[in-house]
Amino acid sequence: MRPQALITGASSGIGEEFARELAGRGNDLILVARRKDRLEELARRLEREYGITADIVAADLATEDGLASAERRIACAGNLALLVNNAGFGTRCLFFGVEVDGQDLCIARMMWSQCGSRTWRFKEWSQRGNGGSSTFPPW
Ligand SMILES: NC(=O)c1ccc[n+]([C@@H]2O[C@H](COP(=O)([O-])OP(=O)(O)OC[C@H]3O[C@@H](n4cnc5c(N)ncnc54)[C@H](OP(=O)(O)O)[C@@H]3O)[C@@H](O)[C@H]2O)c1
Repeated sequence: MRPQALITGASSGIGEEFARELAGRGNDLILVARRKDRLEELARRLEREYGITADIVAADLATEDGLASAERRIACAGNLALLVNNAGFGTRCLFFGVEVDGQDLCIARMMWSQCGSRTWRFKEWSQRGNGGSSTFPPW
């Protein structure tokens, strides 16, 4: 069974590139973002090009429902080995000029690590000696 990688924010940018790179290294993928059409197109393309399996979860991770659906997918995954915690956005202004409401997603994304730890396989990974996660800070 191939190792699976779950990538949040996989519908564009850095997350999409991670998806391609990890598919090229022989990982099955679980791709998470809001834009279902882009996720589906990417999943089918990577399956064709790399012979892997790519599932999608169309979810808004700034909402409780979105987080819950991603957690449900994690809970039933067979061979998770990597979390790329990348969904988010950038804000180009002085920190003290940022509207607090607009930072909700950043907070939600950081919380994802905490939420994910309920269902994520950190203990399993430590027992088998591999697996990992990576979180991208906002900029
Ligand atoms: N580019 C940089 O120089 C840089 C530097 C430092 C850190 N970062 C961080 O790296 C990450 C990716 O940056 P990027 O430049 O690749 O940005 P991007 O092209 O805008 O990609 C952001 C991704 O996050 C997803 N996303 C946004 N809001 C979401 C939500 N509420 N729920 C689920 N998914 C959501 C987007 O998909 P949907 O719109 O389909 O949901 C998209 O796939 C961000 O967290 C960013 O803050 C970027």
